Formats: sequence, structure tokens, C-alpha cells
Amino acid sequence: MYFELRPLHPNFGLEIVGADVTQPFTEAQFEEIREAFETHSLLLFRGPAITDEQQFAFSARFGTPQISFSGNQTGGTHFSRQSNIDPETGELLPLDHKQMVYQSGNVMWHSDSSYRESGSLCSILSAREVTPEGGHTEFVSQRAAWDTLPAARRKTLEGRVAVHSIVHSRNLIAPNLLTKEQEREIPAARHPLVKINPVNRRKSLFLGAHASHIEDMPVAEGRALLKALLSEATQERNIYSHRWETGDVIVWDNRCMLHRATPFDATRHRRLLQRTTVPGELSDHAIL
Ligand code: SIN
Repeated sequence: MYFELRPLHPNFGLEIVGADVTQPFTEAQFEEIREAFETHSLLLFRGPAITDEQQFAFSARFGTPQISFSGNQTGGTHFSRQSNIDPETGELLPLDHKQMVYQSGNVMWHSDSSYRESGSLCSILSAREVTPEGGHTEFVSQRAAWDTLPAARRKTLEGRVAVHSIVHSRNLIAPNLLTKEQEREIPAARHPLVKINPVNRRKSLFLGAHASHIEDMPVAEGRALLKALLSEATQERNIYSHRWETGDVIVWDNRCMLHRATPFDATRHRRLLQRTTVPGELSDHAIL
């Protein structure tokens, strides 16, 4: 063991003490990190402030980060900037700025990039500027949610396919936010409602704001089912709420975790988190 591992929540999550993500890890050190990631789904590293280059290098140990969707400020780059600060002027963005409206969708529970066919293996989020209050990021485990379902209920869910779409989730906050071109950029994706981790074979639900409906089920019925499952999965006692400190880096498994941003006073406080997202393998999303 190279690092001290401190649990963050009874269901998931570890703080990896003594690991500096701004420096390269040896193969053996990274193996320990990767193993902890597969088992515990969320890893917190507290350390010195990280640069974009260092974050890219650390992320690339999990896989090459994807190019972010053009709806975000940093769309078309390897980063997805989560911020109320104008990158050009350094001033706070007005609340009705397109970026702020687009980002407001992050207060809904979601799995990053579930609207893509490859989904995502993991996201890496680093704190560059933090708020004195609010602006936490919250997490729940869909693996724990699956584990608590009665066997008879599980049977009704296995084999089901949900359709995930960025157009659906953005329409929930602001219809017509995306241009027609952006709507075409990422067509809806099909994902099993129940996923299996390829390393440890643990099952999890796969829900979130991008999940629009369930195939072979009337749309309203599918949406009601998705809503009911989500509300059970995200009960207060299942949540780990992370209050950011500058230099914190969190890696989470998008295959089995949901997360959301919590509100803060964006007219007074500056917040800058930088995210990289590593795509998943198509085989991780095989329909059972
Ligand atoms: C995200 O949803 O990826 C960002 C979460 C946050 O801003 O707290």
C-alpha cells in the first residue's frame, strides 16, 4: 500500500491521503489508485493547486479525455469548465448568460456524457476557485441503489434500455437552449438500465437527468419509473456532499455514480472548477 485510504461515505468514496496528483504516479502507485476507483467509485485527492496540463496528464492515466460538448464555454477542448467567471475578462457572468443557463442543468442528478454512446468511465473535477458557501458537489452511488432493491423489483428492471439525450435534459431547464446544429452534434444514446462493472461484476442502476424514457414502455410510464428510481437512489442518507477547497481533485466513476452541483450566490462569489471526462468503453454499456 502506497497511500492511506480514508472512507468518505458508508456506500462509496475514499480520500487518498499522501497522493499528489500534480506529479506522475509510478505504474504500481497508479494500480493501487485504479483498484480503489473500481471498488469505491469516488476518490478524493487534496493537494497543491493543479494546472490544466497536470490535470490532463493525470486524467490520461484513465484514458484520453473526450472533447467537450460545444454547449459548454470550453466546448471543443479536452476541458469542460464549470464556472461563473468569464474566461476572457475575469468578471462574473450575468445569470442570464448562455453558459450560466447551460450550466444550471448541473443541479440535476446526472452521469456525465450518458447522452453519448460511449458514456463515460470517469470524470476528474478540480477546484481552482471556491465559494465561501454553497457550490458543493454531491454524489450518490447507483451501485448502492441497486443493492438495496428487492430481488423481485430487480427482475423487472434487468434487460430494460433507457434512451439518454442532452436535448432532453437541457429542455428540462430551457427549451431551445441548444441550436439545431448542437442537437444534431450528439444523437440520443441507448444504455442498459442496469450496468455491470467489467472488473468486479458489481451491478448498478444507470439513471440521471439525461435519461429521457425507456424503450418498449409508454413514455409517461418510463419517465415515472425513472423518476421513482432516481428519488429512491438520491435520498439524503445516500448523499456525500463535497465542500470544495482549492486544490481538491475528485475522480468518480460515471458508470455507477450520479452527481449534481448545489446552488451558490453567483452574483457575489467566484467559482471555477475544471473538469476532464474520460469516455467509457462501448462494452461497458452492453445491453444485458
Ligand atoms: C458537473 O456536473 O460536472 C459539475 C458539478 C459542479 O459544478 O459541481
